[in-house]
Amino acid sequence: MSRQTKIGLGLAALGRPDYINIRTQKQIDKSIEAFNENALKVLDNSYALGIRAFDVAPSYGLGEKFLLDWNNSRKHNDVNLSTKFGYTYVANWEIGFDGKHEIKEHSITKLNEQWEISKALLPNLKIYQIHSATLDSGVLSNKAVLSRLNQLKKNHNLKIGISSSGTEQIKIIEKARDIIFDNEALFDSYQVTFNLFDQSCYLVLKELLANGKTVIIKEALANGRIFRNKSFQNYKTIYDYLDLLATKYSVGADAIGLRFIIDYLEPTILLSGASNCKQIEQNLKALNFELDQTEIEKLKSFSVSPKSYWEERGKLKWN
Ligand SMILES: NC(=O)c1ccc[n+]([C@@H]2O[C@H](COP(=O)([O-])OP(=O)(O)OC[C@H]3O[C@@H](n4cnc5c(N)ncnc54)[C@H](OP(=O)(O)O)[C@@H]3O)[C@@H](O)[C@H]2O)c1
Repeated sequence: MSRQTKIGLGLAALGRPDYINIRTQKQIDKSIEAFNENALKVLDNSYALGIRAFDVAPSYGLGEKFLLDWNNSRKHNDVNLSTKFGYTYVANWEIGFDGKHEIKEHSITKLNEQWEISKALLPNLKIYQIHSATLDSGVLSNKAVLSRLNQLKKNHNLKIGISSSGTEQIKIIEKARDIIFDNEALFDSYQVTFNLFDQSCYLVLKELLANGKTVIIKEALANGRIFRNKSFQNYKTIYDYLDLLATKYSVGADAIGLRFIIDYLEPTILLSGASNCKQIEQNLKALNFELDQTEIEKLKSFSVSPKSYWEERGKLKWN
């Protein structure tokens, strides 16, 4: 059983008013001031509870700014920050914005432009990632981008990483894994979707871990879909079993979903996507118990095909 996995905090839900999760708490103040206050509170609370890894991206609305303000004012010297380049937030804090909230651009120009801002997170910035690397964007063959990332790695002692999404995660990871610069693998860190429903990357992630790479798990709660939800009748058996385990261990379904990943995959960092202090406290209960082998096997059996998982995710609304 793992004693290594650390829970980290991702700021995707903390930095902008709308996000693709299943909002359980409907009435929230969506002003910038309220989000700023909440983000700082969640960051302070997370730190007090022992969290030291924080993940962000320029496309998480004001998330990177909130993290930078927190980093500069708290001056902790034991935190590990990670950010990304490649997506730009364009919803301009418009509630219910009708259109694409973030625009992908994996060019050298975008890398240089976003790095100029993100570098303010140094020296606590430890991991710099390509945001949602894909095969079709060509970013993993873009010599200018890869060589600039290699330069940043050397100049700032950073780990360079990718994040991945979609049905082609395995192919993307394998392509990134084989990129060599100065006789060394360029990428040291892989941020990947893995949860009860999409377990497809298990083998490739185990191999990365065995080779000393950092594996960061995102969307561990399937954007909130692991909580019982009338819209997802297809998961009824899973919800029933999660409730059974939640009662047994006196935790919520979230802690069961997170603990499954800790016990089965043993990643380096498991990101919580909590949007408030209560959720982070509930998520952290995953560290207080262990699932037994029969329970892990049962939870393994709930995986669905990546195709149906990502089709369903593609239909989630920004709210
Ligand atoms: N392509 C990429 O690079 C990429 C993509 C996605 C995520 N990420 C990273 O991964 C992090 C985590 O992923 P995520 O936020 O998308 O997914 P997640 O952890 O699967 O889901 C987070 C959502 O689950 C709900 N939740 C969590 N704990 C809860 C609780 N105890 N009770 C009720 N609801 C609860 C919240 O929804 P409500 O807010 O609706 O309450 C929260 O926003 C992000 O913050 C980001 O850093 C990276």
